[in-house]
Amino acid sequence: MTYSRISGTGSYLPDRIMTNAELEALVDTTDAWIQERTGIRERRIVAEGQLCSDLAIRAARAAMESANVQPQDIDLLVLGTCTPDQIFPSTACLVQHALGMRPGSVAFDVAAACSGFMYALDIADRYIRTGGARRALVIGAETMSRVLNWKDRGTCILFGDGGGAVVLEAAEEPGIYSSHLHADGQYEELLTVPWGVSQGLECATPESGKITMRGNEVFKFAVRTLGQMVDETLAANNMTRNDVDWLVPHQANIRIIQATAKKLGMSMDQVIQTVAYHGNTSSASIPLALDEGIRDGRIKRGQMLLLEAFGGGFTWGSALIRY
Ligand code: ACO
Repeated sequence: MTYSRISGTGSYLPDRIMTNAELEALVDTTDAWIQERTGIRERRIVAEGQLCSDLAIRAARAAMESANVQPQDIDLLVLGTCTPDQIFPSTACLVQHALGMRPGSVAFDVAAACSGFMYALDIADRYIRTGGARRALVIGAETMSRVLNWKDRGTCILFGDGGGAVVLEAAEEPGIYSSHLHADGQYEELLTVPWGVSQGLECATPESGKITMRGNEVFKFAVRTLGQMVDETLAANNMTRNDVDWLVPHQANIRIIQATAKKLGMSMDQVIQTVAYHGNTSSASIPLALDEGIRDGRIKRGQMLLLEAFGGGFTWGSALIRY
């Protein structure tokens, strides 16, 4: 039996820090409101000309270095993003070439909004378990600042930019015990960037072509769904919350994270939290949090991790992983 395991992690954040105080000057909001309702203090914003692929490349290089592998050793690159550089080539193809991976190796993007990394991880794990690849780069990278309406206080305060990556390798022991993906497309109006090639491209303005969200409804759906998903994931592996060492959640809102930790009966000390300093970086948030927890020594080899995300689509996904 072949499994996949994480052999390295890496991440990258743009240099530019945007504080809540700066947002006070843009929209009718306060640092206190943002912190109380979301837990966010600041976020990173890409520089002009800095692309999603740039963030992905930096994160991928760091992950390969920590796994001690070369780009030529990678068979598969799966990149979760909802803010690609361009329509095509996929950002994954651009990153494959820039990294110097083998021409002919597999590379593609996955669009699942904030669940993009969980989708990418699930696909890469299945490739490895079925013998389609021995080593995979799984990346989540986003330039969310480019799809924000900086006049909409309900959304512009929430998001940030960044990239995170893991190297997955074939192994005799898991690794990834199980991963679970879901989608329900009936909630499009609650969370959307409503333009693309087939509709709205010609009339997209700096305000109209941006993210819109009915935050409170998304919030309630997310809390309910994440609770169910945590149960599903533990039950699928005959495990209880006592088996889990760390919760590594998508970082959308500290109150959503607290609700999931409470459902698990886990202390917030067992939760990797980056939302205060990263905001919601969509597909990038879980690999960013994972890398931080590993590099600062909190997450140790052999420990059991529960990863979970919820995002536009709606999409949601989770994975139980022995690091
Ligand atoms: N500053 C001050 N007041 C604000 C702000 C702001 N930035 N934004 C909204 N308000 C106001 C509202 O207008 C409302 O005022 P009213 O009562 O006079 O009408 C009041 O604050 C309460 O608004 P709610 O929307 O009910 O506030 P809530 O507590 O739900 O917090 C938030 C809003 C932070 C957006 C929350 O709903 C949330 O985090 N939602 C989920 C986001 C998420 O997880 N998205 C999924 C992933 S994103 C992806 O997939 C790309």
